[in-house]
Parts: sequence; structure tokens; C-alpha cells
Amino acid sequence: MELVIQKPFDAHLHLRQGDSLSGFAQRAAAFFESALVMPNTKPPILTAADLGRYRTLIREAAPALNALMTFQLHTQADIPALKRAGAVAAKYFPVGLTNSTGTEASTLSAYDSVLRQMEENGIVLSIHCEAPLYSGGEAKHRVLDEALEASVRFPKLKIVLEHLSLEREVEAVKSAGENVAATLTAHHLMFDAVDFIGSRLNPHLFCKPILQSAYHREALRQAALSGNPRFFFGSDSAPHPPESKTGSAVSPGIYSMPVTIPLLACFFDESSQTDKLESFVSVFGRRFYGLLETTEKIIIEKKSWEVPEIIDGAVPLCAGTVLSWTVRDGGKNE
Ligand code: DOR
Ligand code: ZN
Repeated sequence: MELVIQKPFDAHLHLRQGDSLSGFAQRAAAFFESALVMPNTKPPILTAADLGRYRTLIREAAPALNALMTFQLHTQADIPALKRAGAVAAKYFPVGLTNSTGTEASTLSAYDSVLRQMEENGIVLSIHCEAPLYSGGEAKHRVLDEALEASVRFPKLKIVLEHLSLEREVEAVKSAGENVAATLTAHHLMFDAVDFIGSRLNPHLFCKPILQSAYHREALRQAALSGNPRFFFGSDSAPHPPESKTGSAVSPGIYSMPVTIPLLACFFDESSQTDKLESFVSVFGRRFYGLLETTEKIIIEKKSWEVPEIIDGAVPLCAGTVLSWTVRDGGKNE
């Protein structure tokens, strides 16, 4: 069995910097025609000049990848200049939640004058969506509340809540205005807290937001299968060197890129809804971001393959396990 679909748009991808960038960018080009590239590099992407330099490096490494550029939201952001340099979205990392740098204010409303300019210039606000840890999702979800408030203050500002992990987030997106959408990752759809910390802790499943219970995972699955165009794919592939994934200070982040499309094919196949895969990975995200469709295709085959232990110098998600779907030519340079 095989599925031929429009080549995907990854609406949330970390390509990193330095020596590892070129391998990650080239692999991205095998799976995705376009990708929204996250700005939390070291140093982070803040200015039009940073953004232009980073895009040049990505283009040199992987000319076939249509890299859509982002910058970290900050109060001094020169929105017209960033727009001219090709910025598509600003990323808001709430203070203290993840591997973030360059974020200076502790509430989203502190950025209102920048958000207003983004609204005028058609720049999307991409928000790291994460509830306070170990609250069971019951505590105040400040980031979610702030995002919803901003969506009302700025009704023409497009807002994407990234990597949903909780049922309440799914419900919030469903009842929010048309300017609010959300990304879902393959790992949050396929794994839960038991996989992560059930009998033994698996550091390769440590990401932010952490994997939640099967109950929450089910809500994400229903959102992905719902056909609601405001839920779409963003891999949040976030590789770290192997030494950062072991020991007493493990970095959050999962190198999911090599397996993300095969895993989603498994998920839609197990749900007997492979006909919905293309919309989820290739259509809805492009539509929300106002991107053109592509005539490029990928072929996803129902054919088992063993995921290598290391790919591009990082331990991939599902390393050493056998998956039942594969992307033809997608893993060609392993
Ligand atoms: O798990 C994560 N890793 N979550 C994030 O928000 C950041 C990312 C990274 O950059 O490593
Ligand atoms: Zn991310």
C-alpha cells in the first residue's frame, strides 16, 4: 500500500546552527517542501540581519527547502524591517518554560505595540504553549489565557498555539476565533507519560511540553482526526547531541524529523483514516499561513524499516525500533 500526497509543510521545525545545521536542513528537504524554522538558535534570531544570515545558511545547505523564517518576539523588534527580510512569524517563548533565550517580559501583553505591528504586517504569532508542570493541567494555564486574550485584542493577528499536549488546549482552540490555530506533533500523538516515565525514564522522549497521560493524548488524536483545519502538523523536531540527552541535566527536545511522517502514517492508518493524512500534513498548515500549495509529492509506503540508532549525529525518535510505514527516498542518506 502506498500514499502519494502533496509534499508536507512542517509548521514547527528546529534546524539548529553550526556544523549540525546542514545535515538537519538537508534531511528536512527530503520530507518537507517547506518548513517554519524556529529561531531559538544559539545565538537566537532577533533582528532582520540575524534572520537574513540564517536563511542564507539554510539555503546554502538545502536549496530545495522553502525555509519560512521566524524571530524571537522581543519588545525592540523592528517589524517592518523583519517583514522586508522575509519574516513569517514571531515566536513567543514564555519565560522559564523551555530552552529559550532572548525573551525579556513575563506577560504577552508587554509586547502589545509589537503585536499591533505584526497584525498590520501579516506576521503570525507562534506561541510555545505549555501549562505549569505536574499540575495535571488543572492549575491556571497562563500562556493559554494570554494567547486567547491577545486573539481578542488583535482579531486580525494570526496566532498558532504550538505542540498541544492537553485536552483543555484542544477545547480552547475549537472555541477560539478563526485567527487561532494549533500544531500537533507526531510524538504527542503517539506516546504518553507512561512511555516517557512509566517503568524507566526514557530521556529520548523528554520534550517540552512533556508527554501527558493517555487521556490527553486521546484528545489530541481526536483533534488530528477531526478534519478541523485549525489543527495541523508541526513536527517540533528538536535534536540535541547525544551527550545532552544523558546524565543529570538532560535537555528537552526530540529528534523526530526522520520518523515523523512515517509515524503519522501509522497513526492515521491505525485509525483507518489515511485519507485525512494529506490535509493534516500538507494542506491545513499552508492554508493558515497563506502559503501556496506545491505540486511536489512524496510517496509514503507501508513497508517496515528499522530506525537507525543515530541519524545526523542525534538519536532519533524510535531509534532501533521497526516502523510499519516509510517515506520513499526520505531516509536515503542514513
Ligand atoms: O522539547 C523542546 N525542545 N521544546 C521546546 O520548546 C524547545 C525545544 C528545543 O529547542 O530543544
Ligand atoms: Zn519547538
